[in-house]
Amino acid sequence: MTVYTVTSEIFTENKNAYIIKNGNAISNFIFKYPSYMIKPECFNNIIIHDNDDDIDIDRQQRGKLFIEHHISTELQYVGLQVWRGALLLADYILSNPDLFKDKIVLELGAGVGLTSIIASFLAEKVICTDIDIKGILKLIRCNFMRNGVYVKSKVYIKELDFLNLQWPTFYEKRMNEATVILAADVIYDENVTEGFVDTLTKLLNSKTQKVVYIALEKRYVFTTVNMDVSAPMYEEFLGCIKKKQLNWHIEYIKIDFPQYFKYNRVKHMILMKIEMYIHVHK
Ligand SMILES: C[S@@+](CC[C@H](N)C(=O)[O-])C[C@H]1O[C@@H](n2cnc3c(N)ncnc32)[C@H](O)[C@@H]1O
Repeated sequence: MTVYTVTSEIFTENKNAYIIKNGNAISNFIFKYPSYMIKPECFNNIIIHDNDDDIDIDRQQRGKLFIEHHISTELQYVGLQVWRGALLLADYILSNPDLFKDKIVLELGAGVGLTSIIASFLAEKVICTDIDIKGILKLIRCNFMRNGVYVKSKVYIKELDFLNLQWPTFYEKRMNEATVILAADVIYDENVTEGFVDTLTKLLNSKTQKVVYIALEKRYVFTTVNMDVSAPMYEEFLGCIKKKQLNWHIEYIKIDFPQYFKYNRVKHMILMKIEMYIHVHK
């Protein structure tokens, strides 16, 4: 049987140095600090001096995440790589600190944790979740530790499988406290997409009002069924919402907010904001 592997575009777009550890890459993700981050006291009073002992202003205006990830994987292990959606969502968080400051944030399908790490700079608590396959949760934990300088919130890293909605009571209670849900690039497979919609439905039906931000890259393919190009998984997602007659209000956020990370913000990326209708029209 042929085993197909995929490699995220981010690995080739992110030209920054990486080193290999146990067959995995540890890449530098350099980002510009938004103005509210350019305060030496944000970083435990660490002031960087250059070779002449002058304060290195330029280096203090940019940050660096060290993210361990795989370089290529089989489709079921894509969470071990970094995808463009993670960076788009991280940019949105950095551009809109008031939406995330002191909030309880739940990330679904967090991959190697990059977006959650950025959220943890602002949030009160971050619940970072994914399925626990191929050591993904362990990798997230290691990435949080590597980037501890940016982690200002409480952090819980737990398994959440879209295909198993039987959650222990204490866990359900914890997730229900979240007011912001993040998901980047989790819409790429029919089964997973349906499970994702069911997971969101359950979370949005909890008592605490929530807003969901979903970043995704519409991956266009030519299908012989339609004899045209289409983005089947994105359409599957919208179809699923329609089929289940969900009372969701979807807003498309323009993706012209500042770009702090280096990646190709291609025009077919989208960022959706989803809320229950009753909350929007209250
Ligand atoms: C393309 S990756 C995106 C990872 C990360 N959010 C990013 O943008 O870099 C898709 C993510 O969905 C997760 N996923 C797949 N099946 C899942 C399931 N049944 N339940 C929860 N997450 C799942 C994968 O493990 C992976 O982390």
